[in-house]
Amino acid sequence: MGREKQKIKVLVIDDDPKVVWILSEGLAPNFEFVTARDGVEGIQMVSTEKPNLILLDIKMPGMSGLEVLEKLNKQEDRPEVIMISGHGDTKYVVESMRLGAAEFIDKPFDVREVEIHMNGVLERVKLREEVSELKKELEIRDDLTKFVGDSEPVMRVKALIEQVADSELSVLIRGESGTGKEIAARSLHQLSSRREKQFIKVNCAAIPRDLLEAELFGYEKGAFTGAHKNKQGRFELADKGTIFLDEIGDMHMELQSKLLQVLEQQEFVRVGGVQNIKVDVRIVCATNKDIEYAINAGGFRDDLFYRLNEITLILPPLRERPGDVPLLVNHFLEKYNKQYKKEYYTLSPETINMLTAFHWPGNVRQLENMLKQVVVRSDESIIAELIAQAGHQVKTGVSQAAPVPAFSAGATATAEGSTTDYSLKSRVGKKVAEEEIRLISEVLTKTNWNRRKAAELLQISYRSLLYKIKDYNLNITK
Ligand SMILES: Nc1ncnc2c1ncn2[C@@H]1O[C@H](COP(=O)(O)OP(=O)(O)OP(=O)(O)O)[C@@H](O)[C@H]1O
Ligand SMILES: [Mg+2]
Repeated sequence: MGREKQKIKVLVIDDDPKVVWILSEGLAPNFEFVTARDGVEGIQMVSTEKPNLILLDIKMPGMSGLEVLEKLNKQEDRPEVIMISGHGDTKYVVESMRLGAAEFIDKPFDVREVEIHMNGVLERVKLREEVSELKKELEIRDDLTKFVGDSEPVMRVKALIEQVADSELSVLIRGESGTGKEIAARSLHQLSSRREKQFIKVNCAAIPRDLLEAELFGYEKGAFTGAHKNKQGRFELADKGTIFLDEIGDMHMELQSKLLQVLEQQEFVRVGGVQNIKVDVRIVCATNKDIEYAINAGGFRDDLFYRLNEITLILPPLRERPGDVPLLVNHFLEKYNKQYKKEYYTLSPETINMLTAFHWPGNVRQLENMLKQVVVRSDESIIAELIAQAGHQVKTGVSQAAPVPAFSAGATATAEGSTTDYSLKSRVGKKVAEEEIRLISEVLTKTNWNRRKAAELLQISYRSLLYKIKDYNLNITK
C-alpha cells in the first residue's frame, strides 16, 4: 500500500446538517462523508454509495433510526452501523444492539471520540473478513487434497502418492485432461514435510515462451525492456516447498536445457543476473501429452524427461473406473449445495446409471461441471441433455481427451483391464522401447558394460543411458 490511503466512506443518516459538517471538518483527511436527511434516502444511498460504515441517528422525522436498521438488516452484507443518540434516547440502546448495531454514540460528541469508535468497528470488520478468508482458503485446500474414489486404480495411485510424498524424488503426473493431476500434485505437497512451505504452480503452456524463463528464475533490473526492478522467480518462491510445473510437455527446448542444468546443479542465476542462487525445491510435473512421442520427434529432451520422471503417476481416465462415479457425484453434490446454499441432494437411479455408463471424454472435470449446473438449476433432467451434447462433441472430434501411452518409464500405477489398445502412438512407443532395450543390451554386451563407451556408440548422453538402464531394468546377466 502506498501513502495515498483510500478514504473510508461513511454514510451519515441524520436530519441535523450540523452533524455531518462537524464530522467532515474534523475527520476529512481519512474519511469521506456522504449524507442522507432521512431514512428512505439513507436506505437508497446504501446501495448507490456503497459506504464502508453508517452513522445512523435514532430520532428522525418519518422513519426512525431503529426502523432503518431493521430494513437494512434484510440486505445481504450490509455495512456496520453506529447509532447516534440525542438526549433521552438511551432507552433505545438495548433495542439497537439487539438489531445488530455495532456501537452507540451520544450527542453532543467529540469528533476524536467518534473517530476512535469508527476505527474500532472497522478494525473488527477487517478481522472478521480475514478470518473468513482464511476459512475459505482452508476449505479450498481441504477440497483440493480430497482425492475421491475407491476403485482399484485410484487406490493404487493414492498408495503411491503416500509412499513417495515425503521423498525427494521428482514425480511426473500423467493422465488425460480432467483426471485430477493437479489434486495429485497438491496431495504430494500436503503429505510431505514441506507442507508448511509454499506450493507454487506454474502453467508452462499458459505463460508466453519468452517470459517463462524470467517467471521461473526471476530477473534483475534492466535484464530486458520492462524489467524495472529485481524480481524473484517461482523457484525462489518455492524454496523449501514444492514447485508444480504443469503442462511441462509444452516447455520449449532452450528452457528445457536451462531447467535440466538447474536440476543437476541445484542452483541458477536470474535472467540478467550474475549471482548464483541456491534453492531447495521439490519438483512435481504434469502433462497430458505423449512425451515419448515428443522425444522421438525431437521436441523434448530425453535427459530432462528422465530427470523429471523418477516416479510416474498415471491417473486413470474416469471411463476406466465407473465405480467411482457415484462417489464423485455425492462429493460434488455436497460441494455445490454448500457453495450455492441449495438443498438438491438426490438424483434418480436412472440418472446415476446414465452418469455411470457415460464415457467421460473430459473426465472428472466434465462430471464436476455437469453436477454444478444440476445443483445451480436444481434440475437433474439437464443431465440427459448435457450427455447427449457431449456425446455429439466426441463424435465430431471436439473432445479434449488426449491419449496416454500405455508404456511409461519409472514406477507406475495404471488401470488394468482396459480394452485393446489401438493407439498408434502408444503401440509405436512400445515398439521403440523394445528396440531400445534390444540395442542397448547389445551395445552393453559388446562394450563389456563400459557405459561411457556404450553411450558414445549409441550417440546418447551418458546420463540418459544410465536412466535407460535403470528404467528398463537392464543388468549384466541379461
Ligand atoms: N478424484 C477426484 N476427486 C475429487 N475431485 C476431483 C478428482 N479428480 C478430479 N477432480 C476435480 O476435477 C477437476 C479437474 O481436476 P484437475 O484440475 O486436477 O485435472 P487435471 O488432470 O489437472 O486436468 P488438465 O490436464 O485439464 O489440467 C478439479 O476441479 C478437481 O477438483
Ligand atoms: Mg491441470
